[in-house]
Amino acid sequence: MRACGGLRGPQQDAVSAAGRDAESPRSASTPGPAAAPAAAPGTGPDPRLGGRALRRVVYTADVIARRVRELGAEITDCYPDGELLVFGLLKGSVIFVSDLVRAIERPLQVDFVVASSYGMGTESSGTVHLAYDAATRLEGRHILVVEDIVDSGRTLARLSSVLRGRQPRSLEVCALLHKRIATALLEPVRFVGFDAPSEFLVGYGLDHAENYRHLPYIGSI
Ligand code: IMP
Ligand code: MG
Repeated sequence: MRACGGLRGPQQDAVSAAGRDAESPRSASTPGPAAAPAAAPGTGPDPRLGGRALRRVVYTADVIARRVRELGAEITDCYPDGELLVFGLLKGSVIFVSDLVRAIERPLQVDFVVASSYGMGTESSGTVHLAYDAATRLEGRHILVVEDIVDSGRTLARLSSVLRGRQPRSLEVCALLHKRIATALLEPVRFVGFDAPSEFLVGYGLDHAENYRHLPYIGSI
């Protein structure tokens, strides 16, 4: 295990922290222990899982990275002109959005929307409430909603009907994963990373009870 040198609590001031650093065995003259190799998914216990097991790894980090680059190129080609607003659906899309926007080679802006059944300062349609920065202008812009996974399609259907009412120049959805079981979708998802199996997936932003979002790969539990 690598030592981090401790965390500073509210009672400790900057001077004592600096003093501790100076005595640290990891100072420049004394190299610290070698970094533990990152656990390769599927080959041993991944310390990120905290002892819990995945059923299987479904998409490795390399497979995801390659597909995100392809999606970025496809999206770049689809928007030759106009203002593009990439609208990430929190929280699940946060890691996907971060990688995707860096693969889109044209000017764009990034914002986030929270879709939930509750909320404050929200706009609602049906039972889904949308919370986003009121200063975000949607009129006349290409809106690309980015979603982690489409399951029933209910979230996207309600989100789309609210966003269409704001007169965007275009409105499309990019989903990393699509279970292809959605019955609530009003229109097809324009950009899809992978057709996903009907398993509960975690990692790369997807959670189970807020855990696993930080896995660099996607697995099933
Ligand atoms: P929908 O409205 O039924 O399409 O649900 C979409 C939302 O449910 C996604 O944005 C996810 O947050 C969540 N979700 C659906 N399936 C999974 C899964 O397999 N793993 C993690 N979250 C999921
Ligand atoms: Mg979720």
